Amino acid sequence: MRLNSPQINLITKACMKASRSLIRDFGEIENLQVSTKGPGDFVSSADKRTEKILIEELQKAHPDYGIVTEETGIINKSNMKNRWIIDPIDGTMNFLNSIPQFAISVGYEEEGEIKCGVIFNPIMNEMFCAEKGNGAYLNNKRIRVSKKKKIKDALLVTGGPKGLSKIKEKIFSEYINISLNVSNVRKFGSAALDMAYVACGRFDGYWQRELNYWDIAAGIIIVKEAGGFVDFFEEDLNSPLKKNILATNSNIHEELKDLFKKKDIE
Ligand code: IPD
Ligand code: CA
Ligand code: CA
Repeated sequence: MRLNSPQINLITKACMKASRSLIRDFGEIENLQVSTKGPGDFVSSADKRTEKILIEELQKAHPDYGIVTEETGIINKSNMKNRWIIDPIDGTMNFLNSIPQFAISVGYEEEGEIKCGVIFNPIMNEMFCAEKGNGAYLNNKRIRVSKKKKIKDALLVTGGPKGLSKIKEKIFSEYINISLNVSNVRKFGSAALDMAYVACGRFDGYWQRELNYWDIAAGIIIVKEAGGFVDFFEEDLNSPLKKNILATNSNIHEELKDLFKKKDIE
């Protein structure tokens, strides 16, 4: 791999370390699935344990860096210059149900811009990495977005709405409208891997509302460095960690954007 910044090396090592206990935890889930208590509490402790390892590893090198995490919140709030953006398990619902479609996602942001990131699915042993200017990789192989030109031929992926969403109708109506204009749509349950799959050409595009920054931070640079295009829409300046995203192979970007503008989506 030709990625060589100190930050990408740190993230990769931290992910490898955190993945060891995560793989063990995943093995345990199958047993808990059939127990009367169910795996709920176990999953939330796996989440916290994974995050703790990631934070400890990253802090060893840079105790002063800001950290935005799903479980712990924000660490070193005043440092907005250098920040790690961490989601210890993206795809918790899959993890909880013994479905190996989940990942550790860690991005590194400098002056508000994501510079590098790693999305690691430890069960499939797929590590997606990218660094600004140096390309995107899956394990040691360079990856690129698909070449599909027309939205009508595209295989897209999306997610949501969340159980508590107040805009379910709108999200469903967008889903219907987009589905009617593309080849097909999947829902895989991990925003981070959805982005990674766009980057390596498995999907031609991805859209989703009501995401958190840590779901997609690493994915942003991985898609961009693979030749894709990432766009945010209807941004709420009061909630900078909330995101609505479109990420595509670039070619179908405008056509997908146009589908959002259609009148029947309210
Ligand atoms: C979730 C996953 C899912 C997306 C949800 C996220 P979590 O993250 O990325 O694909 O649809 O909006 O919250 O809770 O599994 O870390
Ligand atoms: Ca997430
Ligand atoms: Ca999570």
